[in-house]
This record gives sequence, C-alpha cells and structure tokens, in this order.
Amino acid sequence: MPKSIIINKHGGPKVLELVDSEIGSPGPKDIKIKNLAIGLNFIDTYHRSGLYPLKLPSGLGMEGAGVVEDVGSDVKSFSKGDNVTYASPPLGSYSDKRIIPEKIAVKIPEGISHKIAASIMTKGLTVFYLLCKTYKPIAGEIVLFHAAAGGVGQIFCQWAKSIGCKVIGTVGSEDKIEIAKKNGCDFVINYNKESFDKKVLEITDNKGIGVVYDGVGKNTFEKSINCLKPRGMMVSFGNSSGPLSPIDVKKYIAAKSLYFTRPGLTNYISERSELVEASSSLFEKIKFGKVKIEIFKEYALSEAIKAHEDLEARKILGSALLIPNE
Ligand SMILES: NC(=O)c1ccc[n+]([C@@H]2O[C@H](COP(=O)([O-])OP(=O)(O)OC[C@H]3O[C@@H](n4cnc5c(N)ncnc54)[C@H](OP(=O)(O)O)[C@@H]3O)[C@@H](O)[C@H]2O)c1
Repeated sequence: MPKSIIINKHGGPKVLELVDSEIGSPGPKDIKIKNLAIGLNFIDTYHRSGLYPLKLPSGLGMEGAGVVEDVGSDVKSFSKGDNVTYASPPLGSYSDKRIIPEKIAVKIPEGISHKIAASIMTKGLTVFYLLCKTYKPIAGEIVLFHAAAGGVGQIFCQWAKSIGCKVIGTVGSEDKIEIAKKNGCDFVINYNKESFDKKVLEITDNKGIGVVYDGVGKNTFEKSINCLKPRGMMVSFGNSSGPLSPIDVKKYIAAKSLYFTRPGLTNYISERSELVEASSSLFEKIKFGKVKIEIFKEYALSEAIKAHEDLEARKILGSALLIPNE
C-alpha cells in the first residue's frame, strides 16, 4: 500500500505521521504520479508548524518528481510513462503516489534526473521570479542575499553570477562560508559574527545597494533596510528566523523612499504560461551548466521527522530530498 505523510495537528516535527494512503483514480483533468523524489523545503516547516495554517488533516510538501501512472479523460499534455515534476499546491508531495492537477506539472527534459528535478523546482522557480520578475538586477550590480549557503541560496548565487551580478551573501556559521563562495558569492558575511549592514556599506563606499533578497525575515529585516540606497527594494520572501512584525512605514520605508514587496511563488506561476516560462528558464540554466546542483542529503520518506529537525536546526547545506519507499 502506498504511504504518505500527513498532519492531524500543527506543531513540531513529531506531528508528521506516515500513513497508508488510498490513491484512487485521477479526475478528468488530473494525473496520477508515482513520486521518485520529493523536494524538502523550508516552507514545509511553516505548513507543519501552523505559521501558514492549513485545513486539517492535511498532506504536506509542494514539490516532487516522478512518473505518470495514469491520466484523466480530458488530459491532453501528459501520457503514462512521462517524467514530470511540480512545485505548487495542493500540498501532498510527501507521498509514494498521488494525484495532482495536470496544470501544475511540467515534463522533465532529457538529461535532468528525477532527483535533480525535485531539488530545483520550488527553489529554482523562486530564484527565477526573484531575479527575472521581482527585481531584475543588471550586470555589475551588487545584490545582497541572506542564507546564501541554503537551498534557495546556492541556486540564487549561481544564477545571479551568471547574469553578471556581484553577490554579497550572508551565512550563519563559519563552515558555510566556503559553500557560499563556491556557489558564486563575491563577499560572504557571517551575520552571527559581524553586523552585515555595516559590512555592506563598507563594501559599497557607504552608497548602499539597490536590492536585498531576504528570506530570513524577523532577525534580518532592520539591518537589510539599512543596506538599501534611496529608492531601493526590500524583497522579503521568507521567514526562516520568524515572520515580520507590522512595519513602521514612516521609519523603514518613507525615510529612503523604498519599495517593499512580500512575494510568493504561487502568485508568479499561477498562469500556465508563467509556469512554462519559469521552468524552461530554470532547465536551461541547468542544461548549460550555469546552475549546478549538489544534493546535500537524501532521507527516506519515513525519516521526514528527522529531515524537518535538521532543516530547522540549520544543518542542511543546500538541496535535500525525501525518497519514497515503494
Ligand atoms: N516566497 C517564496 O516564494 C519562497 C519560495 C521558496 C522559499 N522561500 C523561502 O526562502 C528561504 C530559504 O528556503 P530554503 O528551503 O532554501 O531553506 P534554507 O535556506 O536551506 O534553510 C533556511 C536557512 O535560513 C537560515 N536561518 C536564519 N535564521 C534561522 C533560524 N532562526 N532558524 C532556522 N534557519 C535560519 C539558515 O541559514 P544560516 O545558518 O546560514 O543562517 C537556514 O539554513 C526560506 O525562508 C523559505 O521560506 C520563499
């Protein structure tokens, strides 16, 4: 019997339960997938903890890659045996098999494995929209990215480098400095040892920078604002240290006429054409070697609790996967 991870209540990693799941047959516009690799993402911890509340009980996980086992009667774009990947709600990728709407799936191109696909979809599509839609830095521009040795961070730094940016990355420990450098950071700051805002101003001769991509949230917000030059953009796209409090606009935004945005992947790939554009760009970056992926760790699906504990303990350096049992 196929298994999946569900939660019956919000809480710490131990609320993750491995259960038998009846899959059934796909609806007219759905496809049934055997997952071969499942992406582990920090957002999964927000869904589990209740920071992003879910209707319970619920499956977990947005990202996976596998083989199509069955298609609904109206499905035109996919057939049995196709290799596909996806990175959108409905949640439930933490599963051996599942049914998803065909509109959230894309075919995996030749040369990209299921494991790589499941490592890059959520993280890589996020990097695509951050750099190509939210704020498009130009070649030579200095940008700041927090948690540069993390999953999104490693892809971001390589992609930004490939378009000619100078990348300042922050990391939380000394062992992550080399990883951030290897992925393209020109400057790496350990924000647990140094004031990163002072360092950024030093690097830019006190001019500041045009954009900060901040997925850390609560602990970095104020200093990120300090790094921006007038009319710069604060891109707050995550909460790994906790969510932001309501913002004092006069103090933080008006003083330098800044732009503030809180983007989310779902709003950037809700149209099919947007998903196709984003995933094609991502696959090209991989194909031409502009973004290289090293999978940091693989966990069995049944080890999801351990995977969440490691993720929240900042022990995962890059992309990690859950591997289904069947
Ligand atoms: N809005 C969107 O569309 C979107 C999509 C995907 C991901 N995201 C966000 O992007 C960020 C990165 O995601 P990811 O999956 O690649 O995770 P990740 O970067 O691999 O892991 C999170 C990292 O955040 C840093 N961090 C800082 N303070 C922390 C704390 N108090 N507790 C735990 N970690 C802390 C840690 O790096 P250091 O030890 O180096 O500080 C940690 O490794 C997350 O905030 C995620 O929610 C947003």
